[in-house]
Amino acid sequence: MKDVSANANAKKAAGEDAADLVKSGMVVGLGTGSTVAWTIKRLGERVKEDGLDFYGVPTSFQAEDLAIASGIRLTTLNQHPQLDLAIDGADQVDANLFVIKGGGAAHTREKVVSCSAKRFVIVADESKFVEKLSWPVPVEVLPFAAKLVERRLIDLGGRPALRLGKMKDGPVITDNGNFVMDTDFGVIVDPKGLAAKISPIPGVVEHGIFDNLDELYLARASGVEIIKRRG
Ligand code: A5P
Repeated sequence: MKDVSANANAKKAAGEDAADLVKSGMVVGLGTGSTVAWTIKRLGERVKEDGLDFYGVPTSFQAEDLAIASGIRLTTLNQHPQLDLAIDGADQVDANLFVIKGGGAAHTREKVVSCSAKRFVIVADESKFVEKLSWPVPVEVLPFAAKLVERRLIDLGGRPALRLGKMKDGPVITDNGNFVMDTDFGVIVDPKGLAAKISPIPGVVEHGIFDNLDELYLARASGVEIIKRRG
């Protein structure tokens, strides 16, 4: 699908630059969303034009379809448990490189794939980069546990909203067959602390707070800046 958003050029710049990180022989996690879609398309071009020889592990049906259409060879975490690199998009990234993901409801597989990688890179336009996170945290939930999880998220100070389909009545169903609760916590002062409180709620499959980012490819008006985790 053609990206006609105001940030489309910035997304393209960040996405395509990160494609240069992939070398022949690597196994690479392929993220979900409109920014990393540029990475996947560019990798497909490099396969065709330069004979780049690598395997991709997709994080969603969307990523899988695009990778196949781009001519990228795919594998699974069963066959390749350790990835060299994972590249993905984000909904927000803060100054300490904490990330919120899951705007496309793919964060569970994205977390599994990125945690399987030696190096995790995010591609994003400048609008995603903030001092403190405030994007509603997507929480993937077993449908059977929805009411319990909702109550517990409220107890934590959140305002959960069941994500609804756009061209489907009722809730969005993830690639894993679950619901998503977008939970507004306002400004998140302690992302790690909040993540530690959401994870143990029975019925929570995965939340969208990521603390494993190594490098951010951030498209600014002046060009793509690479911000690395300190220490
Ligand atoms: C998918 O669930 C998300 O984590 C995406 O990676 C995120 O929403 C970024 O999407 P865009 O690149 O389309 O903004």
